[in-house]
Amino acid sequence: MSTTLDPTNIPAHIAIIMDGNGRWARAQGKDRLYGHWQGYRTLKQIVYAADEIGVRFLTVYGFSSENWNRPHDEVEGLMDLMIQAMKAEMDEMAEKGIQFRVSGRPSGLPNELVNVFHEAVRNTRGNPRITLNLAVNYGGRAEIVDAVREIVNAAKSGEIAPPLIDEAIISRHLYNPDIPDPDLLIRTAGEMRISNFLLWEAAYAEIWVTQTPWPDFSKDHLEAAITDYQKRIRKFGTVVE
Ligand code: IPE
Ligand code: IPE
Ligand code: MG
Repeated sequence: MSTTLDPTNIPAHIAIIMDGNGRWARAQGKDRLYGHWQGYRTLKQIVYAADEIGVRFLTVYGFSSENWNRPHDEVEGLMDLMIQAMKAEMDEMAEKGIQFRVSGRPSGLPNELVNVFHEAVRNTRGNPRITLNLAVNYGGRAEIVDAVREIVNAAKSGEIAPPLIDEAIISRHLYNPDIPDPDLLIRTAGEMRISNFLLWEAAYAEIWVTQTPWPDFSKDHLEAAITDYQKRIRKFGTVVE
């Protein structure tokens, strides 16, 4: 498939719920971790494809705050996968000018993973190409709780007057306040739910769901999602005639 995208209407920020790794693996008689490793390969392709298309920010759901409830072996395998993937990709991301970010609570993650995350963020800071924001130990509700805690502390110390607390102040206390809200939210593998992803930020995101599981997602699917996005009329609550 070859699509012609309108270069003046590329979503600046795409968020992806990369779902279906487990079902994809099971369908071919492999274990779930095999699906996660394939999902990592897909992610690499999609980061570079999105950058080529002109997308500025890509936030991907790697591990939710609820995913700790999975079997111990799968959780451990995912942590190990992320450590290995970060070590393998860090230099290339820096060389290719990609910026790396993380959204989520560091507490509970293996120290080694937190360290490679910090190193990658540091080594790619200010880079000119796409920003890859990896949501790990991320929950939309937890992110809002963390913002509320910071704001309450600021109010207690007199930095913020409670009557002046508004949406902009809450946005500024989220994990990556300099990343704009997502324009397009993609979910693979067919589920029609947001599973605690970007609850605040996705208030007006356009949603696109494909049945394709994440390991089979390709640049063609990404272009199909953007083509569809370009047909949407974003109204933000107003009347558009
Ligand atoms: C998404 O794939 C990846 C993570 C949640 C880490 P799943 O592992 O949820 O795959 P399914 O939904 O069970 O097929
Ligand atoms: C959302 O997928 C989390 C990630 C993709 C990392 P899940 O597979 O965990 O979501 P549910 O359980 O189907 O809602
Ligand atoms: Mg799933």
